[in-house]
Amino acid sequence: MDINFNKNEFEGTRKERVVEKVRNITEKDIKRIWEIRNNPSVRENSNNPEEIPLDKHTEWMKNKYFINTDNYCFVLDFNDRVIGYCRFDLQNGKYIISIAIDQDFYGMSLGDKLLKISIKKMGLGEEILAEIQLGNIASLKIFQKNNFKIYRQDDKNYYLSLTT
Ligand SMILES: CC(C)(COP(=O)(O)OP(=O)(O)OC[C@H]1O[C@@H](n2cnc3c(N)ncnc32)[C@H](O)[C@@H]1OP(=O)(O)O)[C@@H](O)C(=O)NCCC(=O)NCCS
Repeated sequence: MDINFNKNEFEGTRKERVVEKVRNITEKDIKRIWEIRNNPSVRENSNNPEEIPLDKHTEWMKNKYFINTDNYCFVLDFNDRVIGYCRFDLQNGKYIISIAIDQDFYGMSLGDKLLKISIKKMGLGEEILAEIQLGNIASLKIFQKNNFKIYRQDDKNYYLSLTT
């Protein structure tokens, strides 16, 4: 008797299985976020390009996302390793967003996915603001793909907003 393998299924079993998941931050993620945040490519696109010591970062994160319950931080697990974060910090009734992916994982559409799912997790009725440096094309693309609109531009940044 002939046995017919479905080619795609057969090939699928040989491929590495990739599991991506966006979830709420836990205190265990703080050090990994610090590693991603201190990467030079993330710092050069940040408002504060200084390298931050781990103890200062840990205290800041605990205050911001665990003691204060107004702010949100989601992380992206890729095969059980945190490779990105998306933060929403409440200021004057609006959320300021900040997103980063581990440089080793750039260009795999993971920034776009993390942003999309994080916005969904925020729920409806929120105003979200983003500040993007003029040359930061990858960032501008993911925000525009997720329906953010530029409402202002100066000699340094684009300013974008989205109401969910
Ligand atoms: C912004 C960031 C999260 C994007 O993550 P990413 O997973 O690499 O993005 P994607 O793979 O979804 O790519 C987005 C788009 O940018 C393009 N792109 C990626 N790197 C690029 C580069 N260096 N120059 C131009 N375009 C680039 C991709 O081709 C893709 O375009 P497409 O949608 O037309 O195919 C990531 O680059 C990052 O962490 N940057 C440092 C932190 C930062 O700048 N944060 C934003 C300020 S809050």
